[in-house]
Amino acid sequence: MSNCKLSIQSITKQYKNNKSVALDAVSVDVQAGEFLAILGPSGCGKTTLLRIIAGLLPLDSGKLYLDGKDITAAAPAKRSMGIVFQNYALFENMTVLENVAYAAKLKARRDKSATKAEVEQRAMELLADLGIAEYAKKYPSSLSGGQMQRVAIARTLILKPDIMLFDEPASALDVATRLQLRTVIKDIQAKFGTTMIYITHDQEEAFAMADRIMVMENARIAQIGTPSEIVGAPANEYVKSFVVDNLQTKIASLSKALGADA
Ligand SMILES: Nc1ncnc2c1ncn2[C@@H]1O[C@H](COP(=O)(O)OP(=O)(O)O)[C@@H](O)[C@H]1O
Ligand SMILES: [Mg+2]
Repeated sequence: MSNCKLSIQSITKQYKNNKSVALDAVSVDVQAGEFLAILGPSGCGKTTLLRIIAGLLPLDSGKLYLDGKDITAAAPAKRSMGIVFQNYALFENMTVLENVAYAAKLKARRDKSATKAEVEQRAMELLADLGIAEYAKKYPSSLSGGQMQRVAIARTLILKPDIMLFDEPASALDVATRLQLRTVIKDIQAKFGTTMIYITHDQEEAFAMADRIMVMENARIAQIGTPSEIVGAPANEYVKSFVVDNLQTKIASLSKALGADA
């Protein structure tokens, strides 16, 4: 057993109705406060791994340890993890403030840890931190994608998660909004010291945000390393072509898009 934040040990998963395996003995240790990007093409197993980490999907074999404690069979609510999806998954019938405060109010009532007013005040502070306080009384349908994603992040943060999990949160957003969201997420990591695991299929995004990148190919890990380790010494031809060569193309098209915006 190691003393890292989250230890993922040899996780294997095959969906019943699928003849290929979705995860094949995937192992990685995530350090406290680290930003780990999981980078790979569609279908390589990224979402499956994130759902298993969050406890939303059972695994076939392998172990998960949070702060050295075995959480392999723990319910999602016992894992102190928050998850942010690509599609926001907000409650449409609640205001922004109600969205952010909802789960925290239930929790506060259950453990008698805070009053409703205290929870709402904390929710307002988080909305201010994320630059969306003025939308507190609005409904999700009136917000932009970038604003909805900030609400989703605030709703997760209010529960003070040990680990935040992101499943391609920026991939539905335009270039400028995507870059703003990056800053928001990196600021949260700096301010709260939250450990973050961030799925993306975008090489440039992974390299811009991550402390370490876990490159996946077909249910397996192709390489884990810092951005400079991966660029400096890609582990094999796949990492070189999927990650390093595409990175240059992505950076070129990003600068072009930004140049066109300016
Ligand atoms: N509910 C499911 N039932 C059967 N197969 C699935 C299911 N979800 C995902 N898969 C398969 O598992 C593999 C990994 O999928 P996924 O984890 O969603 O990949 P990624 O997030 O990297 O795109 C793919 O081959 C996908 O088709
Ligand atoms: Mg996915």
